[in-house]
Amino acid sequence: MENYLVKWILKLCMLCTVLGEECSLELKPSRVVVGFGEPVSVSCEASRPVRVLGWDSAIGAANSQQDRAVQWKVDSLIDWIEEPICYGVFFTAPRQCEEKLNLVLYKTPDSVTISSANHTGPMVAGTEYQLLCDVQNIAPVQYLTLKWYRGNAEVYNHSFSDLTPVTPVQVSSILLITPTQADDGSQYRCVAQLDMGPEGPQPSPSVTSEPLNVSVHYPPSFLSPDAETVDMGSGSEMTLNCTATGSPAPLYSWQSSDPQEKMEDTPVLISSYLLPGTYTCTASNTMGKKSKQFIVKTKSEGL
Ligand SMILES: *[C@@H]1O[C@H](CO)[C@@H](O)[C@H](O)[C@H]1NC(C)=O
Ligand SMILES: *[C@@H]1O[C@H](CO)[C@@H](O)[C@H](O)[C@H]1NC(C)=O
Ligand SMILES: *[C@@H]1O[C@H](CO)[C@@H](O)[C@H](O)[C@H]1NC(C)=O
Ligand SMILES: *[C@@H]1O[C@H](CO)[C@@H](O)[C@H](O)[C@H]1NC(C)=O
Repeated sequence: MENYLVKWILKLCMLCTVLGEECSLELKPSRVVVGFGEPVSVSCEASRPVRVLGWDSAIGAANSQQDRAVQWKVDSLIDWIEEPICYGVFFTAPRQCEEKLNLVLYKTPDSVTISSANHTGPMVAGTEYQLLCDVQNIAPVQYLTLKWYRGNAEVYNHSFSDLTPVTPVQVSSILLITPTQADDGSQYRCVAQLDMGPEGPQPSPSVTSEPLNVSVHYPPSFLSPDAETVDMGSGSEMTLNCTATGSPAPLYSWQSSDPQEKMEDTPVLISSYLLPGTYTCTASNTMGKKSKQFIVKTKSEGL
C-alpha cells in the first residue's frame, strides 16, 4: 500500500515538472509554407507575463517588452533562412524559453526536362534505354516527388525525402525502359510535384515536362502468319491480304510460282483473275523480313 502511494506521488510530480517546464509560448500558425517572394506573418503569444518577447531571425527580427504577442512579418520572403525562433524572458520560472517556427520556403522548379540519356533517334524493341528527367532550381527538395508517366499512366515515382538542403538544388531521376512494339508512338512525361502537407498550397504545385515522343523500330509480323488458301470463285474478286505490322512501315514484294506473272508492290493484292499456284509475299523493313504464302486453287480442286 505504501509503495503504491509513493509511486503515485512520483507520477504526479513528473507531471508537475512537465507542466512547469512548458514554454508558455504559442506560435500561430505553428507551421507555415511560403512561396518564394510571398508575404508571411506569424504571431508568437505568451500565456503568462513576460519581461521580453521577441523573434530571433536573420530577417524580420522583432521584440517587445510589454506585449504578450509579437509578430514575425516579412512582406516578400526571399531569404533561405533557417527556422526563426520566438523567445520569451519571464518573471517566474522557467525564466527563459523558446519555440522554433516550422517554416517551409518553397520554389517551384525553373525547368523540368525529359530526354533519352544515351541515345537519339528511334529505339529498337527489346533494347534497354535510359530516360533522364532533370529538375532545375527546386526547394525544398525533400518534399519533391518526381513522377514518370507513359501516356496517362504513372509508371514510376522517385522521392527525395532523404535529402536535407533548404536552398534550391538541381536533381534528376533515371527511368530504365525496354520498349516493345506497343510503345511505338507513346509519350513519356515527368512531373515534379511539391507535397508540403496540409499547410501547403492545394493542389500541390507541380511542373510537367514537355512530352518525349518514343518511336520504336521492330521487324514485320503478320496477324495470321499461316499460309492461306484462296478459292477462285467465278467472276468475284480475290483478295490476298499481306498487311504486316512493323516499324518503319514495311515494304512489300510478291512472287508467284509462275515467273511470268508480274505483280505490284502493294500489301493487298486484289484481282478478278489469278492463275492457280503459290503466291509468296515478303514484308520487309530495316529490322528484318517475313514471308507469307497464299495458295490459289480453282474451286473444283477443293471439292
Ligand atoms: C544506355 O545505358 C544503359 C545503362 O548504362 C545501358 O544498359 C543501355 O544498354 C544503354 N543503351 C544504349 C542504347 O546504349
Ligand atoms: C509512388 O509509387 C508507389 C508504388 O510504386 C505508390 O504506392 C505511391 O502512391 C506513389 N507515390 C506518389 C506520390 O504517387
Ligand atoms: C510528339 O507527338 C505529338 C503527337 O503525336 C506531336 O504533336 C508532337 O509534335 C511530337 N513532338 C515531337 C518533338 O516530335
Ligand atoms: C488486310 O488485313 C489487315 C489486318 O491484317 C486489315 O487491317 C486490313 O483492313 C485488310 N485489308 C483488306 C483490303 O482487307
